[in-house]
Amino acid sequence: MRSITSPAPDSFVEASAEAGFELFYGKANCSSCHSTPDLTGSGLYKVTATDPAGGLAGGIHVPSLRGIASIAHYFHDSSAATLTDAINQLIAKTSVSGVPALTLNEIADLVEYLKSL
Ligand code: HEC
Repeated sequence: MRSITSPAPDSFVEASAEAGFELFYGKANCSSCHSTPDLTGSGLYKVTATDPAGGLAGGIHVPSLRGIASIAHYFHDSSAATLTDAINQLIAKTSVSGVPALTLNEIADLVEYLKSL
């Protein structure tokens, strides 16, 4: 496992990614859960549109976001086809995630930041 390295970052627009970084650690609240250097975190959450069931009913661990642009679809149930879809699901679950409504530009900036990881 230790010999496996993250894939190289995707290409991204630097100015937009920097704005996305500010949002990730600020207004968008992402770092309240994705808080470690690898952007994992502690706790179990139900952030998807359809709550996890069965053995996952207690919630899902916070996954790392390194190399995230390379692994669509997203979430345990593959319910988000794109990073934009994933952020929109988090916004729709604001009561759980604390992610507030964001503008289309802000979502695009967050996606650029995620592509840089
Ligand atoms: C309340 C805690 C919490 C917050 C806040 C949060 N996330 Fe997450 N995030 C999670 C959990 C838990 C999952 C896994 C959910 C699942 O698979 O059902 C996840 C999954 C993801 C995924 C998909 C990862 C994968 O491997 O499929 C992305 C992308 C993501 N988060 C980005 C963000 C961004 C961007 C923000 C801020 C807008 C954010 N998250 C805010 C807890 C959180």
